[in-house]
Amino acid sequence: MKVLGIETSCDETCAAVVIDGREAVSNVIASQVDLHECFGGVVPEVASRRHVEVITAVVETALSNAGMALQDVQAVAVTRGPGLEGSLLVGVCAAKAYALALDVPLVGVNHIEGHLHSVFLQEPQPEFPVVCLVVSGGHSDIILMRDHGDYLLLGQTRDDAAGEAFDKIGRFLGLGYPGGPAIDRAARSGNPRRFEFPRSRFPDSLDFSFSGLKTAVVRQVKGLNGAESDATVADIAASFQQAVVDMLVDNTLEAARKTGVSTISLGGGVAANSSLRKRMEEEAALAGLKLLLPTPELCTDNAAMIASAGYYRLVRGQSDTLFLSTDASLSLDA
Ligand code: KG4
Ligand code: ZN
Repeated sequence: MKVLGIETSCDETCAAVVIDGREAVSNVIASQVDLHECFGGVVPEVASRRHVEVITAVVETALSNAGMALQDVQAVAVTRGPGLEGSLLVGVCAAKAYALALDVPLVGVNHIEGHLHSVFLQEPQPEFPVVCLVVSGGHSDIILMRDHGDYLLLGQTRDDAAGEAFDKIGRFLGLGYPGGPAIDRAARSGNPRRFEFPRSRFPDSLDFSFSGLKTAVVRQVKGLNGAESDATVADIAASFQQAVVDMLVDNTLEAARKTGVSTISLGGGVAANSSLRKRMEEEAALAGLKLLLPTPELCTDNAAMIASAGYYRLVRGQSDTLFLSTDASLSLDA
């Protein structure tokens, strides 16, 4: 089944064609970074307007990259939440129009469920159950995936998401927007052991907290009274990144231990972080766990993961009508 996926939950306009939930024959991402850069973050109204301007061209490019005509599409999957309300509406309206015009099934997908499905777009295919760490600009979740559509939330953030912390610290250090990739780059020449930043841990819980770490970084920088050299900024970036990576890796491995699960996977934009990927590989190998890492392009927002999650919903007999609504704070069990 050839599923057209559409994803517009934040600031990337994405369309993809995926065959049988596994083979992405096209995956187009129109980034809006240039538009939001001068604001230091995503401006929701600006994002939705750009989605409207480019969505049709992005879908057409996805079809032509797949060597397909519109009439070859057999179902349409779209992100219905969580995300920015105005941005979600553009994707959902477009998806409804294509599904209606083509007379094919429409299926709404949870964005986090999409991130869980990135690993199904590459080989080897995961074997259930899988402990998944989904770390993005809005979420830091540890999820036990027992099957497609069968998810148990094991841990989540109690304040900022990991990507949000990266973006805020990146801006604070003057590294530009988005902060995640900028810190990843700056940290390469830094010393991750120069500054000892706190790692939060809750007893008997797999939850995260990044606000204490954020405050510690801010206090450290203010203590330098503007005297920080590029080398010191790199050391701060590396030490901050190390603290985030430690927390993410520790809780994910703890989740695998607690549940007795032997496969772990990553998803979400922060999973593109080079230090997180390296540490997770080393620690998983030491613990005898199988690690499934999507390529960095499949970690950040894309529509192939939405088409994949949508396909598995369709094979379970789930589809939506043209009354499908958006839900900015949609939860995974909804
Ligand atoms: O999943 P995603 O593309 O969009 C959301 O669903 O939020 O994640 C975006 C987040 C941003 O906070 C961005 O800074 C972060 O992922 N990110 C990274 C890296 N690449 C993207 N964080 C750390 N290191 C990276 N290489
Ligand atoms: Zn995302």
